[in-house]
Amino acid sequence: MNVLLHYFMKQLEQAEKNIFLDIDKDKWRAGYHLMPPTGWLNDPNGLCMYQGEYHVFFQYSPFDAEGGLKFWGHYKSKDMIHWEYMGVPLFSDQPFDIHGVYSGSALIENEKMYLYYTGNVKLEGDFDYTNTGREPYTILVESNNGIHFGTKKCILTPKDYPKGLTLHIRDPKVWKENDIYYMVLGARAKPDKGEVLLYCSYDKINWELKNILTTEQNFGYMWECPDLFELEGKKILSVSPQGLQQQQRNYQNIHQSGYFLLKGDMTNQYTLENFTEWDKGFDFYAPQTFLDNKGRRILIAWAGIPDEKGYDNPTVKNGWQHMLTMPRELKYKNGKIYQMPIKEIEQLRTQQIAIENNMKVVPSFELEYDNKSGQSFDIEIDNDVVIAFHKQQKYFEISFKGALGSGRKSRSVTLEQCQNIKIFADKSILEIYLNAGEEVFTTRFYPQNDKVMLYYHCDTKYCKMWQMNRYTIGRNVV
Ligand code: FRU
Repeated sequence: MNVLLHYFMKQLEQAEKNIFLDIDKDKWRAGYHLMPPTGWLNDPNGLCMYQGEYHVFFQYSPFDAEGGLKFWGHYKSKDMIHWEYMGVPLFSDQPFDIHGVYSGSALIENEKMYLYYTGNVKLEGDFDYTNTGREPYTILVESNNGIHFGTKKCILTPKDYPKGLTLHIRDPKVWKENDIYYMVLGARAKPDKGEVLLYCSYDKINWELKNILTTEQNFGYMWECPDLFELEGKKILSVSPQGLQQQQRNYQNIHQSGYFLLKGDMTNQYTLENFTEWDKGFDFYAPQTFLDNKGRRILIAWAGIPDEKGYDNPTVKNGWQHMLTMPRELKYKNGKIYQMPIKEIEQLRTQQIAIENNMKVVPSFELEYDNKSGQSFDIEIDNDVVIAFHKQQKYFEISFKGALGSGRKSRSVTLEQCQNIKIFADKSILEIYLNAGEEVFTTRFYPQNDKVMLYYHCDTKYCKMWQMNRYTIGRNVV
């Protein structure tokens, strides 16, 4: 065995020794969101359904709650409610991925799982790591059981990418369409333009550049984590652009995530239209989608954001940071994508709770409000988090009055009408769905006590609330 791999495996065994045992000792550990067993998590990777099971890989730095060397961690599940933690299938143990097994995706074919990812290499020396000193490799690794992976194969090296780009090229998403394999890679063109490289292949190994997908006007300097898929016959290009300027209620975070409608032929003449943000909350980035065996297009994102200086996550002092969003089913309606948590999440509802003002509950609940009158309303948590629809001024806002946001202040969206709202609270995360998924806000929050106080300024006879159960998470490290 490679010496480095051996070393990492030993370290990991040590780091993960007591995971899952102390969940009740940390009031911010979530019940129905996937988290790093220990340390740091970022992007979801390799999302797929394989031999009847859902697989969720993720960017994982088990040794450092503030990030660091990235590996892939792995969860799998038959029903997206009972999960098994499978350990780390991909460590950075090769010269071409020595500074990180970066993000990527899965392709399933003939009972095999193919994972594509970016091997990150940073040379030692005085470099800017944008135009010099960085080497992105595209790597393929195969598996016959979705658990053990074979030899890593380098399929694109830095000299294979087109001219005119910086060295920020990464995050392969691969799929098959009409007997051709396609791959999109996120890129930063020189000097500062976000783009997506579209490749095609007939054998999954040799790839040819087909097109460059971008906007006419600059739209951010870098596009990370691209995904290209079809929904109700429409082609959707999802990207996470960096460098957009805030415009009123749009692009309020440091980096964004959203989608374009791709009109025309992706391999030839096309246009990218109507960029729409996936989520307007404080903590959302790098989503990836996959198709399951029920034909659902499911999205999972990192409920976090890179490079943010204004707010943080106090879980770091407890040895971990970040989580993934719940899986969301996507539907295309009236020129827009609607997102709702997958139906399976309803299985986690336990007893229904009668609504009363100033009641105390464990912050692990689903709350829905049917805004029959269409009027303004607000719901407050611990006299700090304010979740409010303002009918006259036509906007919805989540804001923090005090310390629960750990630096988070306000995020909002222009909204003519708010007919309904669903709030999923899970210990230290809120996912808020408006108008049956027309707008979504994902935001971390940090209650001081085991229970929170809820205050409703709305017609509570149209409110329903359930206490939520947890995912079952087992450990099956092989
Ligand atoms: C997005 C990202 C990806 C990269 C990964 C590294 O959050 O920066 O572009 O592959 O994270 O962890």
